[in-house]
Amino acid sequence: PSIRRHVSKHQFVVELSQCLFDFVVQLLPTPEELAVKEDVRKLLEKLIRTIEPNSRLLSFGSTANGFSLRNSDMDLCCLIDSEERLSASDLVTILGDLLERETKFKVKPLPHARIPIVKLSLDPSSPGLPHGIACDIGFENRLALENTRLLMCYAMVDPARVRTLVLFLKVWSKRRKINSPYEGTLSSYGYVLLVIYFLVHVKNPPVLPNLQQIPPLRPIPRDEYYMGDHNVWFFDDIDVLRQRWQSSNTESVAELLIDFFRYYSRDFLYNSGVASIRAGLLQKESKGWQNQSDSRPDLRERNRLCIEDPFETDYNVARCVTKDGLYTIRGEFMRASRILASRPERALLALTQLCE
Ligand code: CTP
Ligand code: MG
Repeated sequence: PSIRRHVSKHQFVVELSQCLFDFVVQLLPTPEELAVKEDVRKLLEKLIRTIEPNSRLLSFGSTANGFSLRNSDMDLCCLIDSEERLSASDLVTILGDLLERETKFKVKPLPHARIPIVKLSLDPSSPGLPHGIACDIGFENRLALENTRLLMCYAMVDPARVRTLVLFLKVWSKRRKINSPYEGTLSSYGYVLLVIYFLVHVKNPPVLPNLQQIPPLRPIPRDEYYMGDHNVWFFDDIDVLRQRWQSSNTESVAELLIDFFRYYSRDFLYNSGVASIRAGLLQKESKGWQNQSDSRPDLRERNRLCIEDPFETDYNVARCVTKDGLYTIRGEFMRASRILASRPERALLALTQLCE
């Protein structure tokens, strides 16, 4: 009979940190995958320029912010530098036709979506792409490009801890099936914001500085940091940051993960609180997001979980999360917390069990 080895907290945490690093490394995209994706981006850009010569096609989302897993989707945004241009829905229709004629992609234009996009996919059988490729092309979504850059800067301030935590949580949320905004749970973007909120505003001392509150080194004119009504300022000089900002928080990535699950299963005030990476904990009431007694069911469902978008501050990133969805997500936070608190004999076992 096996006698359960007593695992001290220290031992467990050291082992778990190492396992987390190893686990995440093997899920990173391969250099080949990145190269193929870049080729696809260039090819699509060339085609789009036959319709709009002054356009650029840029990556955003995980392909551009350092939080990419193997075979993740590609998010592309087309910017058009000219005064007279077609509407986004017309562009979607025209581009959809063009891609259908000129490429091997499966094409699905969605010109009437809230944000019009063209969806593209290639089947797994294509050479060089053992898992196929999926890609969304949108237009003029400049705020998404900025929030991608913000997340990338946060990743670069403390890559070892931030990237490991985020990548692990992305895998975990996908395996536990709580990463589907269309089915009432939370987008990857939402989970990343929860991690950053935790590292900036919950941990004491903080692991990350609040990049949106660090003033510029020299004054800059308002029109350089405003996009429409949105203040998109954040401190993005990574070299300066690395020199000036040393976190006095020395917790290991495993300790942070354990605490993350504990915080979101027990302490976060879901009923009244709004997680804002820009401003810390806010109140639903002060943002007018407490409409849980609204007579229209779709609105009543809207603000169960509240995560403020860093720039579009009147936008709740978690608006898709339903009552059931939140119940499931919190249940998963609790399950994860329980598994880690029980300190299984082998740390690797804990990770496998977490992501079952
Ligand atoms: N985005 C956004 N608002 C949302 C959801 C997404 O602005 N409510 C933008 C963000 O710029 C985000 C990008 O879309 O970085 C991609 O979002 P998402 O697919 O959720 O995140 P990824 O990091 O790309 O995750 P995955 O690998 O799962 O696709
Ligand atoms: Mg994505």
